Amino acid sequence: MKKINRFVPVNIPRLYRDERKNINECLKTNWISSEGKFVKEFEDKFSKYNKRKYGIAVSSGTAALEVAVKSLNLQKNSEVIIPAFSIISTALCVIKSKLKPILVDCDRETWNVKPEDVIKKINSKTSAIIITHIYGLPVDLSKIIKIAKKNNIKIIEDAAEVIGLKYKNKICGSFGDLSTFSFYANKHITTGEGGMVLTNDKNLYLKCRSLRNLSFSNSYFDRYNHDDIGWNYRMTNLQAALGCGQLKNINKIIKKKREIGNMYYKYLKDNNSFILQTNKTKYSKNIYWVFGILLNKNSKYTRDEVMKKLLKYRIDTRPFFLSMNKQKIFKKLGYFKNKSMKNSEYISKNGFYVPSGLGISKSDIKYVCSVLNKILD
Ligand SMILES: Cc1ncc(COP(=O)(O)O)c(C=O)c1O
Repeated sequence: MKKINRFVPVNIPRLYRDERKNINECLKTNWISSEGKFVKEFEDKFSKYNKRKYGIAVSSGTAALEVAVKSLNLQKNSEVIIPAFSIISTALCVIKSKLKPILVDCDRETWNVKPEDVIKKINSKTSAIIITHIYGLPVDLSKIIKIAKKNNIKIIEDAAEVIGLKYKNKICGSFGDLSTFSFYANKHITTGEGGMVLTNDKNLYLKCRSLRNLSFSNSYFDRYNHDDIGWNYRMTNLQAALGCGQLKNINKIIKKKREIGNMYYKYLKDNNSFILQTNKTKYSKNIYWVFGILLNKNSKYTRDEVMKKLLKYRIDTRPFFLSMNKQKIFKKLGYFKNKSMKNSEYISKNGFYVPSGLGISKSDIKYVCSVLNKILD
């Protein structure tokens, strides 16, 4: 197989005519900050798409999580259950709100937490659960939601990696008290950087709106008299203009993402050197945020060696998230001491993902697969 000269980046986003038209409108009309019609339009359309009443557009998925957790006003030092295998933002939003993160290990096949493992961690100190759907497959969440409701435990559903995915025919991001999203350039729809919180609860909506905007006073004259410790986590009209355009193309995007994922799956599924994330479960079909590869115990190379070899073939990859209990900063601060997260640690150490953005060509997917099958035959 011939090495190619061009570089295959890990993500190429895809922009459509609608985004360009909207951005031009912002530039022509001077509405470039967080004021402007596209922010409200994006909030309304995105919440409607996800079957929620209210949307609060913010500057990132991390900001969405921080605003969502703080808006719940949970009792200080109470426990919040989170997955061990996730982006660090999942733990940071808990710690920054002076709450205690409790880790749940993931499953080896879906890379998501299992309901029974989450339920085991619930006790009288639990105030909330963050349900994070991982890499394109949803958490099996009905039992978790049911038990949380019964025990007055709040649910934040992080749907950053599964925009447009359905769980048992209901859209992800429509469960829980609040749901959060990221629109970073590698997400299913992008605003460059950006995020959103969705809810059906008017009071939570008002609180999130206030927190994202430094909790300014609502009074015209008393504007600079702030009533909480908020953030400037506003989304700009330019970003929302991108978001509105992307949302118009969401069906096409989802179809394309699945095509990319299914193509990788077809060419790689018979290779016994690695394990792929489940293609479908009883309750859902993978929407493939990124295409992950998990090396087997008997792999002849380590993950880092494989990534290095792929780079030689001009193929860019990324390692999987690092298990929360292995994070340098959390060790330094004394979190998760002596906690073993067997699966999450294994996945962190042996997993990586290959180029899977919307802009990838079929020939590049085939190239990546043939290189992988050659290195790990
Ligand atoms: C599940 C999940 N939540 C939150 C985030 C954070 O989003 P952002 O990068 O927009 O801050 C990410 C980012 O990849 C994510 O995967």
